[in-house]
Amino acid sequence: NDTFPLHFDFTPSAAARADAEREAVLADPGFGRHFTDHMVSIEWTTEEGWHDAKVVPYGPLVLDPAASVFHYAQEIFEGIKAYRHADSSIWTFRADANGRRLQRSAARLALPELSVDDFVESLKQLVSVDRDWVPSAPETSLYLRPFMIATESFLGVRAAHRVGYYVIASPAGAYFPGGVEPVSIWLSTQYSRAGKGGTGAAKTGGNYAASLLPQEEAYANGCSQVLFLDSVDTTYIEELGGMNVVFVKRDGTLVTPASDSILEGITRDSILQLAEDRGHRVERRRVSLEEWREGVASGEIVEVFACGTAAVVVPIAELKGDGLSIVSPVAGPDSLTLSLRAELTDIQYGRRPDPHGWLTRL
Ligand code: PLP
Ligand code: COI
Repeated sequence: NDTFPLHFDFTPSAAARADAEREAVLADPGFGRHFTDHMVSIEWTTEEGWHDAKVVPYGPLVLDPAASVFHYAQEIFEGIKAYRHADSSIWTFRADANGRRLQRSAARLALPELSVDDFVESLKQLVSVDRDWVPSAPETSLYLRPFMIATESFLGVRAAHRVGYYVIASPAGAYFPGGVEPVSIWLSTQYSRAGKGGTGAAKTGGNYAASLLPQEEAYANGCSQVLFLDSVDTTYIEELGGMNVVFVKRDGTLVTPASDSILEGITRDSILQLAEDRGHRVERRRVSLEEWREGVASGEIVEVFACGTAAVVVPIAELKGDGLSIVSPVAGPDSLTLSLRAELTDIQYGRRPDPHGWLTRL
């Protein structure tokens, strides 16, 4: 009984920031520190389905302390960017893929599915009122964070009958302070991110909660991200706390872990597609830590990189762990890593044609 497509009401913010204040934020946005003037909110109940879609002033959500998201973490989210092109038009990238992934996450977390069209429309609605918040400096964007939470006040453990979906937006520069400088990664041996049959493939807060302690360990060891191994054999590479991993072999083959407990990254899928377009072989299969170690030692692996929406593509310089150090070759300016990164961002920013029809105008 959902209304489809949803119609969005709009209440303009009375506290919208003045031009000068906004421009100051956009001059140095950082990542995830500043938010725009508005947000999207849509309600769902078992009786009414999705309803009450609106764009409202950005501000606190008022929730009952018994709302089940606080107790049982029934929550999912997405991360997707809006890019300003040279002619000032604003575009997003593979929004349908993010919309489908939100549906898969919803299914795993027993949350209601939002249609892909309503998902894309929710992004359009927010960006259309907060257009001025999309920065224009090179490599900057407006990071959109759609999320869905269980808002029913009920302490029994079952899927909530009342749910909220929201979209907030945050102007973004580089995720890592060093930009595309190679990063060091910490191997977590004590902790797993996700288990067999768990929620690893869903984009749900609990996976990130589980990664925070090992992430602290990474920082303490001078690394910027944590790498997880599979929880069954603790042998195979899974992914980083917030990014996927790809290996480049000497013959130009790209290899990336296949696992049902990692997040299927849209950045990774796009990079691998661009590599295939260039004639590279792509292998999605299990990759052991040993294969990484031996590959680097023998010269079989020539580049290693991490990729995700927030951080785009960054070379991995070193994997460190207790008594472990695997130093990858330096990804120079003509590395495949940086060349694929440039091709991807050129498409996203409209600097070259979009052969796969990945862009949607917002
Ligand atoms: N893996 C994890 C755990 C992530 O949080 C992300 C980021 O969203 C990714 C991988 C990469 O996914 P995407 O490229 O779709 O952003
Ligand atoms: C993203 O890349 O969108 C993420 O959600 C990852 C997070 C580390 C910011």
